[in-house]
Amino acid sequence: MNLSFAERSMPDAGTLVVGVLADKVLTAGAEELDRLTDGQIGRVLAGAGRFTGKREDAIHIAAPAGLPVERVTLIGLGGTDDLDGAAWQKIGGSAMAQLNAAGAVTAAVWLDAPAKAPVGSGEAAAAFAAGARLRAYRFDRYRTREKAEAKPSLSDLVVMTDDHGVDAEQRQRVDALVAGVTLTRDLVSEPANVLFPESFAERCLPLRDAGLAVEVLDEDDMRAMGMGALLGVGQGSARSSRLVVLQWYGADAERPPVAFVGKGVTFDTGGISLKPGAGMEEMKWDMAGAGAVVGVMRVLAGRKAKVNAVGILGLVENMPSATAQRPGDVVTSMSGQTIEVINTDAEGRLVLADALWYTQQRFKPAAMIDLATLTGAIMVALGTHQAGLFASDDALADQLLAAGKATGEPLWRMPLGEPYDREIDSEIADMKNVAGHRNGGAAVAAQFLKRFVQDVPWAHLDIAGMAWSKKDRPTVPKGATGFGVCLLDRFVADTYER
Ligand code: BES
Ligand code: MN
Ligand code: ZN
Repeated sequence: MNLSFAERSMPDAGTLVVGVLADKVLTAGAEELDRLTDGQIGRVLAGAGRFTGKREDAIHIAAPAGLPVERVTLIGLGGTDDLDGAAWQKIGGSAMAQLNAAGAVTAAVWLDAPAKAPVGSGEAAAAFAAGARLRAYRFDRYRTREKAEAKPSLSDLVVMTDDHGVDAEQRQRVDALVAGVTLTRDLVSEPANVLFPESFAERCLPLRDAGLAVEVLDEDDMRAMGMGALLGVGQGSARSSRLVVLQWYGADAERPPVAFVGKGVTFDTGGISLKPGAGMEEMKWDMAGAGAVVGVMRVLAGRKAKVNAVGILGLVENMPSATAQRPGDVVTSMSGQTIEVINTDAEGRLVLADALWYTQQRFKPAAMIDLATLTGAIMVALGTHQAGLFASDDALADQLLAAGKATGEPLWRMPLGEPYDREIDSEIADMKNVAGHRNGGAAVAAQFLKRFVQDVPWAHLDIAGMAWSKKDRPTVPKGATGFGVCLLDRFVADTYER
């Protein structure tokens, strides 16, 4: 699907899309079209039954006589007050789905934001375009004989605006964002026979072309640094573990970077504490935290963000085998703290323990945020509607909550606290990796991570419920969501680039 921007004009074929506000109020573009058609748009709306301009609704009509296009699609924009970037993104995504459902091949959108709306037409058009492209995502690498009619019909979408239009910087932002989210979704969608620690690391190398520094540490490197917790998880796998370090320096070199750390378990069988078979295939996406970190680093480089940022990926495969770690084993982490591994399925926290420690030792970051599909318990608590946010720092928590709201990737703050911490005291080591019961599982896991965080503002996003969607959403076709990329990009823009 090609998406381009242009000044408003009448396309000579295809579908013309115009917006209608709540209660059938015409946008400037819709009014113009109404004038050109002697009031046809108004008459259609008057008899349109259920279509009232509700956000993300649409109706398709055969183009009134005299227009060169074949079809007119009216899309609902809803109310004016909350017509912000996130809303436009969803409208763009829904429009994309509606156009494909109607079989449109080429379409042009006359896009204008109402005067009193929170964002102007340029920003609205950029957000609409981003939403449309995000919804158009497909992972079709492995479909070798798909019928043409099963594929999305839309091949060209032109977003047309009046006056100032969409400037070069806004276009670059859209391109960067879509490239980052697409990269994350591709990684998360890949099966674990294709994407394992080494191949994941290899897929990071081309990011050098985008301007990122990329380093790959192997098991010997990690052993030399004492990363016994991470290495213990990977020791049962035929695939060797990796740690990837991505760096983007877009601000003064002396400025400490913001650090993003991702859980990258390329497949989680549970290890010797083997998971039940049903649904285990889902554990190919247990690397979605690392996937999101790669994606956001790609966005920052793509739009030349004025920030220093590092991304650290802990990449392992958790398998049961003769060399696998056993329940009861004690490992020594890079921090020097010892861990009794009661349950080999609580592996993400072991990987992050060393990745977090390494990040602080090496980069002394201004803030550190980890992303992980860490617990089933967060899904019990929050479902698949928002991710859990655990933070040691209220200001950082508020910045992340605001970015989540602004991008439609919502977070809900969850508790940390000493009572949760006490649950992982061990009889024979400094700590154990599980509490031994399921209560408060997401908070106990977060508290475990906190034992590896020194005095840096830190936040942990438990994205287990958000990495994969079983149904279509406005800007997310079902499958890998890319959750976290838009959110962290926004967080960087609002916190470090103002
Ligand atoms: N990767 C899983 C968490 C998970 C479960 C993510 C379902 C997405 C969907 C994690 O490694 C895990 O197995 N956690 C255990 C922890 C338990 C052993 C304390 C869990 O949540 O059951
Ligand atoms: Mn697990
Ligand atoms: Zn896991």
